[in-house]
Amino acid sequence: MSYVDIPDQFPTLRSGGLTLRELAEEDLATWFARRSDVAAAALAGDPVATSIADVIAGLQYHRDAFRAKLGVRWAIVPDEVGSSVGTIGFSEFLPGVRGAAVGAAIGRRHWGRGIATRAGAIVLDYGFEALRLEFVWAIVLPENARIIRVMEKLGFVRGNAPDGVNREIGKRLDTLYYYITRRMRAESFPGRDVSHDS
Ligand SMILES: CC(C)(COP(=O)(O)OP(=O)(O)OC[C@H]1O[C@@H](n2cnc3c(N)ncnc32)[C@H](O)[C@@H]1OP(=O)(O)O)[C@@H](O)C(=O)NCCC(=O)NCCS
Repeated sequence: MSYVDIPDQFPTLRSGGLTLRELAEEDLATWFARRSDVAAAALAGDPVATSIADVIAGLQYHRDAFRAKLGVRWAIVPDEVGSSVGTIGFSEFLPGVRGAAVGAAIGRRHWGRGIATRAGAIVLDYGFEALRLEFVWAIVLPENARIIRVMEKLGFVRGNAPDGVNREIGKRLDTLYYYITRRMRAESFPGRDVSHDS
């Protein structure tokens, strides 16, 4: 569903040696490499890309989704790399309860350097402040130990998916639901108290 708090102009975010910016044609080559990594695509529930046309369609999809206020997907650019190594973003907004799903994918050669964790912290802060979300969730496969570790580091906990949340990854339903609320984030990271309560 569309979410009116998504801005008209794409928000570029910078913190901790990362720039999160709008996806662009310059990202297509690394994006294709990532999407043709069969094991990583399966973990994320993405179809495996077999030609560059698949990621060109992906770029158009994310541009259209942003314009329609259905999603925000950033390219992740670490200072030390200087080009995009992955993507992260919000989708599946539930405007009535101010919730959104978060998802991320990093190119395999950049795994284990804390990039997803740092990018996750940036988008959570943006989601709870600028987008005024009340909670953020992620659906993950039980064998995806890396993303589970990332979410634990960010303060997510496991729970039962509320109505309206799509639990499927690919065709699988044996997935786990993780979530974090605005209050949990503020309590876990007091320096980041982003409460808008008056
Ligand atoms: C999941 C993913 C985004 C993580 O990105 P990343 O930049 O490597 O993540 P980080 O470096 O911030 O954190 C990874 C953590 O997992 C830990 N880890 C690595 N392998 C692990 C394993 N086999 N079991 C448990 N933890 C593991 C790392 O040690 C690190 O934790 P630490 O900082 O406490 O040491 C990346 O692996 C990816 O793109 N995977 C494929 C797509 C995907 O699964 N996306 C999520 C869909 S829901």
